[in-house]
Amino acid sequence: MKRLLEQSSPEVKILPSQIENRKLDHLQICLKKKVQARHTTTGFEDIFFVHKALPEIEKDKINLSTVAFNHKFSAPLIVGAMTGGTSGAMKINSTIAEAVEETGLGMGVGSQRAAIEDPKLEKTFSIVREKAPTAFLVANVGGPQLVKGYGAKEAKEAVDMIEADALAIHLNPLQEVVQPEGETNYAGVLEKIGEIARALDVPVIVKETGAGIAAEEAKMLEDVGVAGIDVAGVGGTSWAAVEYHRAKETQDESRQRLGEAFWDWGIPTAVSVVEVSISVDLTVIASGGVRTGVDVAKAIALGADL
Ligand SMILES: Cc1cc2nc3c(=O)[nH]c(=O)nc-3n(C[C@H](O)[C@H](O)[C@H](O)COP(=O)(O)O)c2cc1C
Repeated sequence: MKRLLEQSSPEVKILPSQIENRKLDHLQICLKKKVQARHTTTGFEDIFFVHKALPEIEKDKINLSTVAFNHKFSAPLIVGAMTGGTSGAMKINSTIAEAVEETGLGMGVGSQRAAIEDPKLEKTFSIVREKAPTAFLVANVGGPQLVKGYGAKEAKEAVDMIEADALAIHLNPLQEVVQPEGETNYAGVLEKIGEIARALDVPVIVKETGAGIAAEEAKMLEDVGVAGIDVAGVGGTSWAAVEYHRAKETQDESRQRLGEAFWDWGIPTAVSVVEVSISVDLTVIASGGVRTGVDVAKAIALGADL
């Protein structure tokens, strides 16, 4: 990713806006600084498979393919939402798209707000459909933007921009609180999510961004018509940590303290997968610190679909 970020695409020359600068900051911080949870883990280390000394199966005949959201995946893997909106991000999206097309997997793009507000940035997102004509692609908008006025129109724009198979609505209340430019009004977000789920022809997935989703909230999301939940629990990337590093650069001591205090906040991924998968009948994506195939296998065993 570092190399990709350095080779910005010659096709897109964009003067950075405030959102684009922030997106670039986020990528650089995630690459260069320590942003993983420090004291809380995913919980996968507490899960053990019962080893089968008599597997009675021929390994080469194991079929990893699965169907989720009516789409066939060659394996239960989807690349989480990360970026778009800057020329470096375009190269990252393009490369991931080529990889998921070749391997028969899926991917999400990062928040499309920058391109909804400035159409010249669209290409940094739409490149994914060019490079991945058949892969499962997920569009992305943020919960706070829904509260501020985004509705079905903007959600459809995001979907159409990348000819998406689904729309993810991300929830990041923790990050918004630590971030100086944070949009901290979440009042009414559930109702807006329901409105969008009813208006779109593609499934709506609600995702967290590193602090997990509890059973109670999963049920509320199911009741308003959401089709899938990406738990994005704690144990991997911490957005309080990312914002801690940004606060450090600007010598904002109070936000540094806030970032430190909430660095490990959230529901561990393994716990959130269980919470969600036993309480709703929705497609469940396990993410947040999923780093190895063994983590993936444990997540699937606990009830995740992807
Ligand atoms: C650089 C970067 C940018 C991200 N941007 C977005 C975003 O725009 N929208 C979103 O829904 N999630 C975004 N995420 C959150 C991830 O999709 C994921 O939920 C979170 O990083 C936890 O997973 P991890 O521990 O595997 O990183 C971003 C993650 C990273 C690392």
